[in-house]
Amino acid sequence: MALLNENSENKKKTASSSKKTTKTKDPLEDFLSDIKGLSDTMKKRVHKVLITEGIVDPRGIKALTKAQLEELPGISDTTSSLLIEQFEDKKEGKIFLSLEEREELETIRSKILTGSKDLDNLLQGGIPTGTFVELYGAPQSGKTQICYTLSVNTLLPKDFGGLEAGVIWLDTEGSFNSQRFKQVMSYYQYTYNIPEKKFDTKKFMVAATRTLAQIELALKEAGKIIPKNNVKLLIVDSLMDPFRAEYGGLGKLAERQKHLNKVLHLLMRVAEAYDLAVVYTNQVMANPDPFASAMDKVQPIGGFVLGHASDIRLWLRRATSKIRNQFDAPNARRALITDCGWLPQVECHFSIGAFGICDVEEEAKHRELALEIGFGFDQSSEEDAEEQVQTEFAKLD
Ligand SMILES: Nc1ncnc2c1ncn2[C@@H]1O[C@H](COP(=O)(O)OP(=O)(O)O)[C@@H](O)[C@H]1O
Ligand SMILES: [Mg+2]
Repeated sequence: MALLNENSENKKKTASSSKKTTKTKDPLEDFLSDIKGLSDTMKKRVHKVLITEGIVDPRGIKALTKAQLEELPGISDTTSSLLIEQFEDKKEGKIFLSLEEREELETIRSKILTGSKDLDNLLQGGIPTGTFVELYGAPQSGKTQICYTLSVNTLLPKDFGGLEAGVIWLDTEGSFNSQRFKQVMSYYQYTYNIPEKKFDTKKFMVAATRTLAQIELALKEAGKIIPKNNVKLLIVDSLMDPFRAEYGGLGKLAERQKHLNKVLHLLMRVAEAYDLAVVYTNQVMANPDPFASAMDKVQPIGGFVLGHASDIRLWLRRATSKIRNQFDAPNARRALITDCGWLPQVECHFSIGAFGICDVEEEAKHRELALEIGFGFDQSSEEDAEEQVQTEFAKLD
């Protein structure tokens, strides 16, 4: 597991935070008090409405569209415009940025470590906050396992390469397992003597969101949790599952894509407002095109709507037997960046170790340590099983 990686970005203070002048107990009140053109009575009323709606931080306003703001009781067209303009006045809400300012904004983004140095290198340092990352692949390809390690590394104290920040996990498949989460966390205890209590596990929140209504409700609730817990990672495992369940059949495809677009925009505004990484997993389907290249033989589901939303698309699959034998790593996997606006289409290997994601060279070490400690683990039951591409979803897209 990649630890003590110089995650210098994490240590840098953001330009905006260093420029903040006052720090009050109620950031929302502070934000409202600066608005000219709004009476004190109105400010109090708006404050009350926002708090009732779970918006306890001014960034929560940024996460809403003008129309959504106006849906709140007592918020008129003028009031919502004033709230939005107040953001634009601030440095962080500036409309145009110079190249230097833009570069500064990109470099202060923290990177979440994946657990594998090779995978971190592939992503040029880990998963940057403020981005949308899609992990797609056949069942067992390691999607959920990457989410565990990313979560633990987000909670991890800064001195060890973590972000010391919060995580929200939306579990749509019922696959989240707290014992597995603890196993991944215990790696740091056994190898670096970082006890569990060093992790602020209260900052990890998981919601069982089987339906789309539950996802939307959870995202609303997240508005309260995100600023309170300083959430920097939001996981949706898996994103398309509830959409497939609720919009079955080709006839409902257009409707499904419209709804998907709505949920993605909601997530995008949250990611931008709070500068957090959104990582979602996705299933694959076989590409019916007989002339498709090897890379395009399988495709993530969700169509163009999801394709356009993802900043980084990572395709996960099992490593070849040559690699698995060479490194004594039966759980070795391959990760290929299939689509990203700033990273090349390159591939690396990683493994699913007994303590979560690690480099292929480390899998055997993980296994030995787990045996020593005596916790059970899966010694790759799928050794000879060929990767199965799920075709049952092909009908939908
Ligand atoms: N405790 C464990 N020790 C070692 N490997 C594990 C452990 N738990 C799960 N795995 C590996 O993770 C694989 C499942 O990966 P997962 O991320 O859950 O798949 P999916 O892509 O379907 O989300 C299993 O096939 C197994 O190889
Ligand atoms: Mg899974």
